[in-house]
Amino acid sequence: MYNAFFGLTQNPFNMSPDPSFLFRSEQHEEALANLIYGVQTRKGFIALTGEVGTGKTTMLECLRDFLNTQQIAFASLFNSRLTVEPFFELLAYDLDLRCNRLSKTEVLLALNNMLLERAAVGRTTVLIVDEAHNLEWDVLEEIRLLGNLENRRGKLLQIILAGQQELDRKLEAPEFRQLKQRIALRCVLRGLTPLETVDYVNSRLSRAGLKHQTVLPVELLEEIAHRTQGIPRLINAVCDNLLLTSFAMECRTATLEMLDEVTSDMRLDYPRQPGRADSPYDPLKRSAEYRF
Ligand SMILES: Nc1ncnc2c1ncn2[C@@H]1O[C@H](COP(=O)(O)OP(=O)(O)OP(=O)(O)O)[C@@H](O)[C@H]1O
Ligand SMILES: [Mg+2]
Repeated sequence: MYNAFFGLTQNPFNMSPDPSFLFRSEQHEEALANLIYGVQTRKGFIALTGEVGTGKTTMLECLRDFLNTQQIAFASLFNSRLTVEPFFELLAYDLDLRCNRLSKTEVLLALNNMLLERAAVGRTTVLIVDEAHNLEWDVLEEIRLLGNLENRRGKLLQIILAGQQELDRKLEAPEFRQLKQRIALRCVLRGLTPLETVDYVNSRLSRAGLKHQTVLPVELLEEIAHRTQGIPRLINAVCDNLLLTSFAMECRTATLEMLDEVTSDMRLDYPRQPGRADSPYDPLKRSAEYRF
């Protein structure tokens, strides 16, 4: 909507986990390196956890790109609210297992054969489970058992469990002590620092065609970092709405007052800075629809 006004060639603050917009913060770089290292060295279980909206799915998208370039076979499960039968069916579908996909026994046999054949020629196979904090106990138990398949050179199936912090809490439960012990690598994502937030926003705007942006001044970006706690999804939502507001007001530069209005409308909770009064939220003040 506002792209032409600001000279953008595409939407800079899209909510999708698009690797072409990847901002390589130290922690994202490290998480991706760990995922790749874990797969290549056949570590077995790898956990990727973090606050909502910190970039877990984006990391998995980047990992998938890497696996594709390396021709490493993988299955990717996103709907973690599955029961056992559909779990095996989807696994068989993703790995293109030739068997009766509705029979757990047949899927397990075909999977075992496939893993052994691939391992014999030095190839590994990966199972990626996103939103793993939502997994049912019995599906998590099946996944633990899949992680037991191994030969002398290591695990046959590399399993990546990505999810919100509840996943860590789930793994603390006594029934999952065994699985917790098997997690060989852990990556944790947190919010970006204020400096990273500034670079993150500039990198997205630059990727979208605005190389030296002046629409979101650095002081405003520092305030955005504070109000969003550096959570990329919230940063995207705030910046998107700020650009929309600036566009609606035909302003080339967003202001603190606009930010106050945007964060009020988003009902964003953040620690107030001493000595700064925000403009009070007034629902009647504007009727613009915010995308959040
Ligand atoms: N390193 C990054 N580079 C570029 N964009 C990022 C990065 N990290 C996160 N984002 C952006 O932030 C938004 C949320 O990211 P993502 O969906 O990956 O988070 P998540 O941790 O999977 O969230 P949830 O806990 O809700 O599943 C997306 O729009 C994504 O593009
Ligand atoms: Mg996600």
